[in-house]
Amino acid sequence: MSPAAFAPAEPEPTLFPDHEERRRIEDWLTNALIEASARVQRGPVTPTLDLSAFRAELAAYDFAAPRTLGDMLRWTIDRLQVGLVQMGNPRYFGLFNPAATFPAQCADRIASLFNPQLASSASSPVPVEIEAHVIREVGRRAGLTAPVSGHFATGGSEANYTALICALTAGHPQFATAGTQAYAGPVRFYTSRECHIAWLKIAHQAGVGRAALRLVDTDGRGQLDPLALRNMIAADRAAGHVPLMLVATAGTTGGGMVDPLDACAEIARAERLWYHVDAAWGGAALASERLRGLLQGIETADSITIDAHKWLATTMGCAMFLTTHGALLSEAFHCSTSFMPSSVSGVDPYLNSVQWSRRFLGLRLFLALCVAGWEGLGRHVERAVDVIEAIKTRLVASGWTVANESGLAVLDVLPPPGYADVRELVKRVVASGRAWVAPTSFEGRDVVRICVTHGETRESDVAELVAALNQFGASQ
Ligand SMILES: Cc1ncc(COP(=O)(O)O)c(C=O)c1O
Repeated sequence: MSPAAFAPAEPEPTLFPDHEERRRIEDWLTNALIEASARVQRGPVTPTLDLSAFRAELAAYDFAAPRTLGDMLRWTIDRLQVGLVQMGNPRYFGLFNPAATFPAQCADRIASLFNPQLASSASSPVPVEIEAHVIREVGRRAGLTAPVSGHFATGGSEANYTALICALTAGHPQFATAGTQAYAGPVRFYTSRECHIAWLKIAHQAGVGRAALRLVDTDGRGQLDPLALRNMIAADRAAGHVPLMLVATAGTTGGGMVDPLDACAEIARAERLWYHVDAAWGGAALASERLRGLLQGIETADSITIDAHKWLATTMGCAMFLTTHGALLSEAFHCSTSFMPSSVSGVDPYLNSVQWSRRFLGLRLFLALCVAGWEGLGRHVERAVDVIEAIKTRLVASGWTVANESGLAVLDVLPPPGYADVRELVKRVVASGRAWVAPTSFEGRDVVRICVTHGETRESDVAELVAALNQFGASQ
């Protein structure tokens, strides 16, 4: 007897509209996003919506009564336009968050449509090859000796976590099975006080404990002090601790400073430490012939973090972990299971990284590199440095003092005497919506931190920033 014919229900039309309806909505969305982007560029940098009113509005969304997708898309764009700090505004001189490049945005759309599963090379042969190619080329650009391994990660924190896991795996053959008990004493790793402090969370989640992170003094100019590092390692060894990894930062979060990479490499070699360079933001300087010399020494690293979602301006959630120790990386993340369509060590991303299921992140940088080339990306990076120089010149001319000497696109400045203190001044500027800057501490002093992250910042934006800083600084 043949089985009864099966007629499944029609696909849920609100979730899977037909092609005509999709085309209508996609066309509307494309136009609406272009309009929104123009409004964001002209509008205030800071959120203007009343958050308590928004919470009340949101509470009414109890999902009992469906609404149309068209209405919801319009609502979402309207609220986002007034409900966040706008990285797409050229007067956002903020943290390292960029205005995303257009090729990266296109890549995101394509990845959303195909939704490839990048865990396995058998599931996604083309995406996996594209990502591996970008990793190799970026590694080559950094001067790493072939073969370069690595993968895309969700952010610098994940990539830095990967470095610690590699260091732990490399440091003792029993770590993989016994964990840190394999070591003869508590493990320690070293980075400067000016590092990105996510290292603390990384130490915590890796199970080595936050005390494993040793913050080395800086030299008064925001760079790791090699002598202080040597002394700290010696003291730790004498106390029975096990030094494991040295992290140099190439482009510190607060001041855009680059640690002495060659000196750090020498110490790491002499002390037999894993040498990681956290170039989450500053790594973008590799794109520029004019600036890449600032990262001299990065090629000696065992591993490197470079975020594409910072200065390389992809959409959010896109970083790279690069290493010359491919076999070690595979050892750190290997496992085996019968249900995966492929299990090729060193090839399948799920055997090579923290993540299992993963999004096609690398396409964003691949497309940007294809259309701009290293030269175009280099111009994007140099432009940011030139804009920072222009801001510096104008502020110095009106009595501000420069605190950091970075050749990259971060400027830390102290207001002229008689101005409001830094935190109050920044609060006023940000509240005005005219520009966004951050207060931070650099070498023990409160400074105004200005970073160029937008590829389209113009003279008028610089003038507005400088005017706002002087106006809100001077008024008491
Ligand atoms: C030097 C440095 N490392 C790591 C990170 C963390 O990167 P992510 O925010 O992508 O996790 C940052 C973030 O600003 C950073 O500046």
